[in-house]
Amino acid sequence: MNAAEHGGGSIAGDPGDYFPHQPVLYQEVLDALAPESGKSYLDGTLGAAGHAEGILNASAPRGRLLGLDLDPEALTIARQRLLVFQDRVIIRQASYRNAASILQEIGWDQVDGILLDLGISSMQVDRPERGFSFLENGPLDMRFNPETGQSAADLVNSLDEETLADVIYQFGEERYSRRIARAIIAARPITTTRQLAGLIEKAVPKKYDPHIHPATRTFQALRIATNRELETIGEALPELVKCLTEGGRIAVISFHSLEDRIVKQFFRQESQDCICPPEQPVCTCGHTAVLKVLTRKPVRAAEQEIKVNPRSRSAKMRVAEKL
Ligand SMILES: C[S@@+](CC[C@H](N)C(=O)[O-])C[C@H]1O[C@@H](n2cnc3c(N)ncnc32)[C@H](O)[C@@H]1O
Repeated sequence: MNAAEHGGGSIAGDPGDYFPHQPVLYQEVLDALAPESGKSYLDGTLGAAGHAEGILNASAPRGRLLGLDLDPEALTIARQRLLVFQDRVIIRQASYRNAASILQEIGWDQVDGILLDLGISSMQVDRPERGFSFLENGPLDMRFNPETGQSAADLVNSLDEETLADVIYQFGEERYSRRIARAIIAARPITTTRQLAGLIEKAVPKKYDPHIHPATRTFQALRIATNRELETIGEALPELVKCLTEGGRIAVISFHSLEDRIVKQFFRQESQDCICPPEQPVCTCGHTAVLKVLTRKPVRAAEQEIKVNPRSRSAKMRVAEKL
């Protein structure tokens, strides 16, 4: 991801006036889920509802969709955009990890398709007050739901140097993680995005990768840690698969190699009858396959899409079908 993809610009006004986020792999998602009238869908990361709108149009006149997002601003946009679909849509502010209980609550037993389009939306990056952008100044927040939990500032101001360096190294794949952590500790308290970005710029060597802003990887790492993104996807996948009907499909778009690895390994494991270690002569696990993987390799954006939407460059979509 380069600076333009992650740094964002500034927009003013009400999030409800803003229809900005370009859904990635839009046609590929529709091809994967093949929406049909009379069927039910879950969009666990509704965002600006670009994919959701596509699913509802393709499943007219009787397809229905439950849309979840943690971000109240995204939900404002999504509600407005999906108004035309009336009672074919239910929208809730919730994490996709709680999808099973929400489905139960609204009386939908199972769904025929699930979409997770992970990570961050352009609207979030484009609003400096959300604290995701290192190019614009704002409070160092980065929470998908700014009404609850610890902000990125809470993290950087409380973690010890070694843990902070580990977070930046593991989630950001940042080779200068130790230098950056040291600089952060020395400058605490850190309260704003530009304060953090400025000290990262000074902490890394001048010859830092010229293709990306030196703060890109650290900001990504802090966002992932703040929102416990890897933990969430790892814990949610088994629960989500239980919510799928036989023949139902799950499509997951990830933007980070660790995230993609979690999805890939989960799909692989759940498509096998036995998951005993290979050196074990007799199966003792009793595991049975519940998924068929439909994408041997992840689906990537075409050059044409990358040209108009640089964010799609790092997107990888994996799709599996419930047996
Ligand atoms: C890439 S955007 C989705 C864009 C959407 N597909 C569209 O077409 O506009 C990702 C969204 O997922 C939301 N999100 C991230 N983690 C989430 C979680 N655990 N539960 C629900 N929503 C989450 C973010 O707030 C963000 O709005």
